[in-house]
Amino acid sequence: MTLNARTADRHVLYEEAVQCVEADLDFFSKVFKKTRGYAPHTLREDFCGTASLACEWVARHEENRAWGVDLDRPTLDWGIKHHLSRLGDDQDRVTLIEGDVLASPSPAVQVTAALNFSYQVFKDRKTLLAYFKNAYSGLADDGMFFLDAFGGTESMEENDEDRRISPATRPDGSRLPAYTYIWEQASFNPIDHNIVCHIHFKFKDGSKLKKAFTYDWRLWTLPELQELILEAGFSRADVYMEGWDDDEDEADGIFKKKTRAENMAGWVGYVVGIK
Ligand SMILES: C[S@@+](CC[C@H](N)C(=O)[O-])C[C@H]1O[C@@H](n2cnc3c(N)ncnc32)[C@H](O)[C@@H]1O
Repeated sequence: MTLNARTADRHVLYEEAVQCVEADLDFFSKVFKKTRGYAPHTLREDFCGTASLACEWVARHEENRAWGVDLDRPTLDWGIKHHLSRLGDDQDRVTLIEGDVLASPSPAVQVTAALNFSYQVFKDRKTLLAYFKNAYSGLADDGMFFLDAFGGTESMEENDEDRRISPATRPDGSRLPAYTYIWEQASFNPIDHNIVCHIHFKFKDGSKLKKAFTYDWRLWTLPELQELILEAGFSRADVYMEGWDDDEDEADGIFKKKTRAENMAGWVGYVVGIK
C-alpha cells in the first residue's frame, strides 16, 4: 500500500522516527549492572503510550516483567494489538494500567522509565516533585529511575527540524517506505519555559499529516531535574550526555556520565535517579 497522509498509521510513524527502545533498554541495563553488579528484571514504563519499551523488555528475558502506565485508552489498545499480541503467552508478563502516573501504583520495580520527555507535561515544581516522589516509592530498594531530557540554544527557539526516515522493516515483518519526520517547536515562553511542539509527517506523494502529535510542556532544565530528583529522596541524580561524532557531524548515540558539558545547539541526555 502507498504510504501517504491517508493510509499512514501515526503510531507506526512515531515509533519508527522517535523511539529506539533497544538502545534505551541497553543503556538502562548497562547503568544498572554497573551500579548494582547484576541485571534488573522488572521495569515500569510511565507514559508508556503503545508500550513498545515494556514489550521489548519482556521479549528480552524470560524472567523480565513490565508494567506500563498511560492515560490514553486508544493508544494502549493500539499497543495491545500491535506489540503485546506478538509476545504470545509472554504477554502475561506485561501489565498495562490505564491511569495517571501520579495515581497508579504497581508492584515495586527495579527500573522506572519516563521517556521522550513526557514528564514535562507537569508544569509546576509541586506536581513534578509529587511525580518523582511516586516514582521513588514505586521502586524496589535497588531501584533506578531513568528520564530523558533535551536542551541547548535551539531548544528555546521557534524552529522546525526535518529528518528523512529511511525505509524499514517493522517488528511484524511489514515494510515501511521512507517518509519525513518534522519536529516543530511552535512557541517558547522564557518566563515560564512553556513550550509547545508538534510532530508532522510528510510523504513522497507530497501529502502531509499535520500535527499528528502535539505536546504542551514545560522545558525543565537539567539542574532543576537533578535537584527535584534528590528532593524526592533519591541518593544520587546522575546526568549522562550523548556524544558527538565529528566525522559524521551528528550525535553518536553514546551516553556518558558527565558533570560538565558543552552547551550545543541541541543536546539529548538521560537523568538517572539512584535509590
Ligand atoms: C510523548 S508520549 C510518550 C510515548 C512513549 N512512551 C515514548 O517514549 O515515546 C506521551 C504519553 O504520555 C501520556 N500521558 C500524558 N500525561 C499522562 C499522565 N499524567 N499519566 C499517564 N500518562 C500520561 C499520553 O497519553 C501519551 O501517550
